[in-house]
Parts: sequence; structure tokens; C-alpha cells
Amino acid sequence: MLKNKLTEILGIQYPIQCGTMQGITTAELVAPVANAGGFCCLSCATFATKEAFMDEVKKTKDMTDKPFGVNVGLFPSMVQSASAEERIDWVIESGVKILETAGRSPVAHRDQIKNGGLIHIHKCARSKDAVKVANAGVDIVSVVGTECGGHPSMEEVTSLVLIPMVLDQITTPLIAGGGFADGKGLMAALCLGASGVNFGTRFMATKECPIHPDFKQKLIETAETETLLVMKTLNNPSRVLKTPGSEKIIELESKGASLEELAPYISGRVSASGWQQGAFDKGMYPGGQVVGRIKDVPTVAELIQRMVNEAMGVKKLMDSLF
Ligand SMILES: Cc1cc2nc3c(=O)[nH]c(=O)nc-3n(C[C@H](O)[C@H](O)[C@H](O)COP(=O)(O)O)c2cc1C
Repeated sequence: MLKNKLTEILGIQYPIQCGTMQGITTAELVAPVANAGGFCCLSCATFATKEAFMDEVKKTKDMTDKPFGVNVGLFPSMVQSASAEERIDWVIESGVKILETAGRSPVAHRDQIKNGGLIHIHKCARSKDAVKVANAGVDIVSVVGTECGGHPSMEEVTSLVLIPMVLDQITTPLIAGGGFADGKGLMAALCLGASGVNFGTRFMATKECPIHPDFKQKLIETAETETLLVMKTLNNPSRVLKTPGSEKIIELESKGASLEELAPYISGRVSASGWQQGAFDKGMYPGGQVVGRIKDVPTVAELIQRMVNEAMGVKKLMDSLF
């Protein structure tokens, strides 16, 4: 049931990924997703030192014996305590076998990743990048449409267009992300030829997600129209929830603010403290348009099982049509 090339490569039960979220996909969320048959990555960028990262890997392994991965972001960063190359070495040394990269081309790191024996997922947001990384030999290509929480591309192409665009050009298994909330979306992506789905925003509203309960309530109350694409003037767009902080960023950008002027408003530190305290007046909070479809806060296992049941319901409906 729901077995395919992706579940086989990753050794998981269902083709369901909880998307990497810096500061959020820690052991508390990664392990329950793995235990429920899905897939999730620790965000390496959450950890400033190798020791802290290794401790989190150990903690996750103590909580699950199922496969999980590590995401190493290749985004340009204002605060960089270790290089991507060093972080990939940490992953190899940790014994975790699945690496997800994102943000910039991973081509320069391919030899290191391959020689380290890692299964390599690369997440990107443009069809030309997806084709490039597939040709570079990554094991799994992940693409996100402009609806997604976090970083879409400047091109603003929706998932419904982007996924088949990419699949017309590659044979590598593909994970589709951006705008998915449930088992119906999962089946829609599989119908388009994807091998699995990356759900980010939806998993924030789960019991195990380590953010403040007020923030989960905020997700329930936010409509699909209440997101903004900030940082387009920096050529590094991010889809975030519409909050006083993100509206301020848009205002500053419209006045031609520089990176230095924007820095206090876009800092990851402000978002991290907002998630912990349930305060959203300052800073910016990544979230996709699919936020409008979040109506409850189930456990991770309930959410994944619900998605699987919905997928089976869609299959029955389709079978009845033919
Ligand atoms: C709060 C939040 C934080 C995120 N942080 C990261 C990150 O650190 N690295 C990354 O590769 N993607 C990040 N993403 C993107 C997700 O991994 C995923 O690709 C995206 O949320 C999928 O789109 P959806 O939100 O429409 O489900 C983040 C998304 C959210 C909502």
C-alpha cells in the first residue's frame, strides 16, 4: 500500500515527508514522523556546533529505530558557524544515511556526498535546477512550488505546473512540495507522477511540533490569503505568514531597504524566539498558503494515518470511475 521507488530508497512505509524546518524539525518532531512511517530531516543549521548536532542525532536515534535524514542548507547565511562541507562531513560521521540539501546547487558537493555513501535528496524550486541536479546524479529530486512555506523561486510557478514540467524532463524519483495538506493532495501529486510529497506548514500544527501552542492556534486562524512573499528584493524570496513583522519587511523593501536595514526584521533568531514564546508581532514566520486548510492539531501519527486513509478513499473513488 503506497509503496514505490521513494519508499524503497528511503526505507520508509509511506511516501510522506514532513519538510525540514530550521529550529523545528528537531528530535521531538523527526522521531514521531519516522515512527509513524513517514520521513523527516533534522535541520543541521539548528546546531551551531558539531557536538550539539551529534547529541541531537543520538537523541533522535534513541527515540526511533526508523530511517530519518539530515538537511544541510546551502543558502547564503548571515551567521555561518561551519561550512556546508564541514556539515556534510558531520552527517557522514553521524551514521545518518540520508542527506537533504537545499538552497543552492549541490553539484560542488556531489563527490563528497557520493563518497560518503549518503542517499542524496536535493530540494529546489525551479525546473531548470531540478533537471541540473538530476543530471548531476542525485538520488531524489525535491521541488517546491510558489505556494510553499519557506523559499520558493523568484519565478513564482505553482506546484501544479512545476511538478509535471520537471517530470517531463527527468526520470529520477521526485518529491513534490508546496501547497499540500492531506491525502487527497498526496494522491494528486502521485497522479502527476511524483513519488512522494513534502508537507511543511501542515506538520507545524501537530501535537509533537516543538513550537508554542499559541502559534499552532495562529495557524488554525490564518487564511490561505494571509501569506506574503518577502525578501524578493534580495533575490531570496521567502513565503511567510502575514504578520506585523512581515508587513514591515514589505514596507521597507518597497522603500529600497538594504540587507543591513532588513537584517533585524529577517533574522532567524527573532523567528526562533517567536515560535518558542507564541509571539508573532516581530520578525517573520515561514508558512505556506496551505495554512488556510489547517483546522486542527492532531498527533503526528494521527495526521499521517489520516493522510493514508484519505489517499485510500481517493483510490476507491477513482476505481469507481473506471
Ligand atoms: C516554518 C518553516 C520553516 C522552514 N525551514 C526550512 C529550512 O530550514 N530548510 C529548508 O530546506 N526548508 C525549510 N522550509 C520549507 C519546508 O521544508 C517545505 O519545503 C515547505 O514547507 C513545503 O511547503 P508547504 O509549507 O506548502 O507544505 C520551512 C518551512 C516552514 C513552514
